[in-house]
Amino acid sequence: MTVDSDVWVRVAEPGDAEGLCDLTAAVAAEGRFIVPDRLFFTPEQQARIIAARDPASHQIWVGVADGAVVAEMELVRGTWPKTAHTATLAVVVAAAHRGRGVFSRCLAAAQDWAEASGVEKLCLTVFATNTEALAAYRRRGFVEEGVRRGQYRIQGQLVDEVLMARWLERGSLRDVVDRRQHGP
Ligand SMILES: CC(C)(COP(=O)(O)OP(=O)(O)OC[C@H]1O[C@@H](n2cnc3c(N)ncnc32)[C@H](O)[C@@H]1OP(=O)(O)O)[C@@H](O)C(=O)NCCC(=O)NCCS
Repeated sequence: MTVDSDVWVRVAEPGDAEGLCDLTAAVAAEGRFIVPDRLFFTPEQQARIIAARDPASHQIWVGVADGAVVAEMELVRGTWPKTAHTATLAVVVAAAHRGRGVFSRCLAAAQDWAEASGVEKLCLTVFATNTEALAAYRRRGFVEEGVRRGQYRIQGQLVDEVLMARWLERGSLRDVVDRRQHGP
């Protein structure tokens, strides 16, 4: 895999809001990867969410290339004591930057956050038709925990929702990048 070293991965700032909205709108318009089919926050609302979040329980990373936001990964930790050991992951990468290791680097960037916040399990859901994402998650240690049948209707077809999760060990997210850059 060619690693996209032109993409800088860092924690999001309110000034990224417009770029994040553009990225979300572009991926939504592709129609087959994420649930929204259009932008659901204004840049002002997005900026307020970034500024007001408690980074111990809600963190957002961006990938930036040539000043443009080309990737977003968001982790939201469970709110209650019963779920505080889990975090829900959402990620999008701009079409031109996919398949070049940006997601892997976002995951690695989340290691310190996960350890500091006490998160032990990352959870996500993915459309069963999103075979590239399913394969990428499996290769990064996520396993399938369940399926909600026909949970979505996409372009007229019922599509299953696949629930996946990965339990974390100390340093294990960083290994994702090491393995991807240096082979299995
Ligand atoms: C799924 C997604 C988040 C992965 O991010 P990424 O930066 O492309 O991921 P990486 O490059 O780290 O790894 C992707 C893997 O798939 C391969 N791949 C090749 N072309 C690809 C493509 N067009 N799209 C996705 N993966 C591709 C990569 O080579 C890599 O293989 P590996 O697992 O052997 O390393 C990203 O492709 C994406 O945003 N897709 C559209 C939106 C989406 O599906 N979001 C997730 C919804 S659940």
